Amino acid sequence: MFYEPRNGHGLPHDPFKAIVAPRPIGWISTVDAQGRPNLAPYSFFNAALSRPPMLMFTTETMKHSAANAIATGEFVFNLCSRDLFEAMNLTSGLLPEGVNEFEVAGLEMAPCRMVKAPRVAASPASLECRLVHSLRFEDIEGRALEGWLVVGQVVGVHINDAFLKDGRFDTVAAAPVARCGYRDYTAVTALFEALRPSDGGEWALGQRDR
Ligand SMILES: Cc1cc2nc3c(=O)[nH]c(=O)nc-3n(C[C@H](O)[C@H](O)[C@H](O)COP(=O)(O)O)c2cc1C
Repeated sequence: MFYEPRNGHGLPHDPFKAIVAPRPIGWISTVDAQGRPNLAPYSFFNAALSRPPMLMFTTETMKHSAANAIATGEFVFNLCSRDLFEAMNLTSGLLPEGVNEFEVAGLEMAPCRMVKAPRVAASPASLECRLVHSLRFEDIEGRALEGWLVVGQVVGVHINDAFLKDGRFDTVAAAPVARCGYRDYTAVTALFEALRPSDGGEWALGQRDR
């Protein structure tokens, strides 16, 4: 089949999110201008740059996470491991402004070092970010949309040492949850390794991060 999104897809559900899948879940913690904590998942999320490390997430409308990130210039990514899935899902509930999702989901908060927002203590890794860009989306006709893009530079990295094995972050042990389409999710349970054609000597020298 082929369809132009502006004319509809003709299927029972929009397949877009099932095609662009899996998407890592940005479990975003922030504080509002009064310092009240907020936590919510965003699957329109990814690493955006590596040098320096940057993260991005988008929001369909101006929700608390983006509003707080823009108001305070800070946000935190928390990795959602498989065992934290149910708690993460609870934090997506529509709650009044100022209600602390950490408490609603029974999650312990841990302090950050470079930003005011707390992090999820039980998360295998959290990345503290300072806001670099925020942009309201426009469509191809130049019409302003409700969605926003938020980009932050990573200024602090927390790794639970239990997830460091031989100097590497153990992604399989962390089992990050990712969002597929509909109400489907997946988690990383296995990896395969493949060298690039250009790896050769560089690989031996330990330059594999490029
Ligand atoms: C796994 C998951 C992924 C989500 N991804 C997004 C997303 O990418 N964009 C969005 O606007 N809402 C997304 N949501 C919904 C928000 O989490 C939800 O609207 C939440 O109440 C927003 O909270 P906030 O206002 O505290 O930021 C997602 C929900 C779940 C469960």
